[in-house]
Amino acid sequence: MTPTPRRRIVATSALPYANGNIHIGHLVEYIQTDIWTRFQKMRGHDCLYICADDTHGTAIMVKARELGITPEELIAGTHKDHAKDFADFGVGFDIYSSTNSDENRILSEEFYIAMRDKGHTNVREINQLYCNHDKMFLPDRFVKGTCPVCSSPDQYGDSCDKCGSTYTPSELKQPYCSICKTPPVEKASSQIFFKLNDFKQFLMEWMPQHTQKEVAAKLMEWFETDLRDWDISRSAPYFGFEIPGYPGKYFYVWIDAPIGYVASTWQWCKANGQDFASWWKSPNTEIYHFIGKDIAYFHLLFWPAMLKSTSYNLPTQVFVHGMLTVNGEKMSKSKGTSITARTYLNHLDPMYLRYYYACKLNSRVDDLDLNVTDFVNRVNSDLIGKITNLGSRGAQMLTKKLEGRLGTLSAAGKDLHARGVARAEEIAALYEGREFARAIETIREIADETNKYFDEQAPWKHTDAQKEETRAVLTLTLNMFRMIAIYLKPVLPLYSDKVAKLLNEQPYVWADHAKIVENASVNAYEHLATRVEAAKFEQIIADSMPKDASGNPITTTPAASAAKPLKGNKTVTTQTSSVNAQTSAPTSDAPISIDDFTKVDLRIAKIVSAEAVPEADKLLRLKVSLGEMGERQIFAGIKAAYKPEDLVGRLTIVVANLAPRKMKFGMSEGMVLAAGQGGSDLFILSPDAGAQPGQRVK
Ligand code: 2FM
Ligand code: ZN
Repeated sequence: MTPTPRRRIVATSALPYANGNIHIGHLVEYIQTDIWTRFQKMRGHDCLYICADDTHGTAIMVKARELGITPEELIAGTHKDHAKDFADFGVGFDIYSSTNSDENRILSEEFYIAMRDKGHTNVREINQLYCNHDKMFLPDRFVKGTCPVCSSPDQYGDSCDKCGSTYTPSELKQPYCSICKTPPVEKASSQIFFKLNDFKQFLMEWMPQHTQKEVAAKLMEWFETDLRDWDISRSAPYFGFEIPGYPGKYFYVWIDAPIGYVASTWQWCKANGQDFASWWKSPNTEIYHFIGKDIAYFHLLFWPAMLKSTSYNLPTQVFVHGMLTVNGEKMSKSKGTSITARTYLNHLDPMYLRYYYACKLNSRVDDLDLNVTDFVNRVNSDLIGKITNLGSRGAQMLTKKLEGRLGTLSAAGKDLHARGVARAEEIAALYEGREFARAIETIREIADETNKYFDEQAPWKHTDAQKEETRAVLTLTLNMFRMIAIYLKPVLPLYSDKVAKLLNEQPYVWADHAKIVENASVNAYEHLATRVEAAKFEQIIADSMPKDASGNPITTTPAASAAKPLKGNKTVTTQTSSVNAQTSAPTSDAPISIDDFTKVDLRIAKIVSAEAVPEADKLLRLKVSLGEMGERQIFAGIKAAYKPEDLVGRLTIVVANLAPRKMKFGMSEGMVLAAGQGGSDLFILSPDAGAQPGQRVK
């Protein structure tokens, strides 16, 4: 086998914001990058895993103010928590830094000056909403008001939660500052813009070659028109870096955040006596960003354009992954599925989540579902039942019956071992290509073959006269287990280290997989993993439910407050044509007459087609059939709760006599009924089998 040339690799994960906890959704990416970088290191490459806290911006400044501490104090506390969460999950960064560093300030200035001096910036005056009370310009998420489209109160300045429309904050009716509730005023200020369109041609060619096809296809839509100038400055007060030559103006957080990748590498170089330029400016360095699909446009449009103005390397590839769902639904605070890293750690071994995510990860952008039953099965039946048992049974039998001494392999044993060795490059290629699920499947096949051999040989039945045959079987079993532990090391590094200890060996590198350990003593078997109990997950979910001051789960209706954590009562609410608008459900305090009720024409409808409305965060465009009453178009705010393709063909119940409403995206001619709190917590109603489209619901 020819050794592969030693590569120099920088890999990054997105920098988490310093105003929130790490949760299991974040961990998909950190575990994915960790597995990949550990694999590269095991193969002998010079690979750095770089990350930092993303510390700047209005949200962090305001949160610190609310807590009565300085932003520096806030980010110091978060940094400690984040670093501990990651360490406890075995995420092995080479450096976990902060964007609020001297190196990052220096580099942010350097990038900006390069962009400016090459003529890619301009300055102009714009009007923005300003709070006279808080003496600050208000980012979109800090302005609230009444939706200009559906008139729902208390909506954010960029989009309406209820009808899903997007707009600018100045379009809101009765706008108010979300911090102090006073109405903002419009105020002019000059800001600095990055002329992204200068890079349009470059990006159109570069971008599709540096990410997955499906990501590129989506981002190509950006090039249908010219790229708009990007506002890269923010006015004081702002927590961040002041822009050279513009006192009182700060770099927008999305400028210094990706530069944080470079700055953190620089810090690592300083601490390790390495030449920074040979890492970020050398054509021999490969740079990989692992990111979620929600921030693809920052990393594939803005960031390469910024880098292009400098002499730093462009990324070799931007690897985009999908989002985490739990039991098929978006993570939800109210359902207790928005689980922090710490809550998980309070109940379960991090190794299980690493193994489970590896079983599910691939190189595509699909969302990854954490299904609790599947999680328990894969851990118990595969990791424990098929893999760990090989080691525990093999080692314990050897110790008990055969003085803990390995013998040599039989001819059949050598064959089986050679077949496992022969799969090393296939598994390596799968790790390299981020096809972790397939890597694990392949490793499991090796375990299956070994188990079959072990069961056929039935070493536990052997008599004393067959001692050496038993020894040969156990020697093979433990050597196969050793090989599996090496192949699994990127996913389960601590587990693999324990196996090395069992066999009196140094921590493994990839090349160790082919060796056969014979005629050696094994150490006493140290416990490797226990079965996981499904009940633990229920505790995790119960712990993750929002709580009131006395620690009781908070639910929004009195009926729901009595609900068990996992179930959660659903209040039936109606949706306006566009929305999750929860018109207050009639209660016994305000009874309606039967005549009132019969005014509402409820009908069985069959969903004929469903598609996302790209411009609206919450909306699906449904075409429903009401049988002889014909087809209707309805906009329903259920995008977070359903994949369009899962709805097609389903029967549901609609309000058929609602006056048609003109929406931004077309006419909405009815309303779909759904239960739940909104967002991903929505359940459309379905009739029993046999109901026919168009039938009246009474
Ligand atoms: O979306 C986020 O969570 C950002 N904090 C990611 C920043 S990644 C990079 F550009 F710094
Ligand atoms: Zn205010």
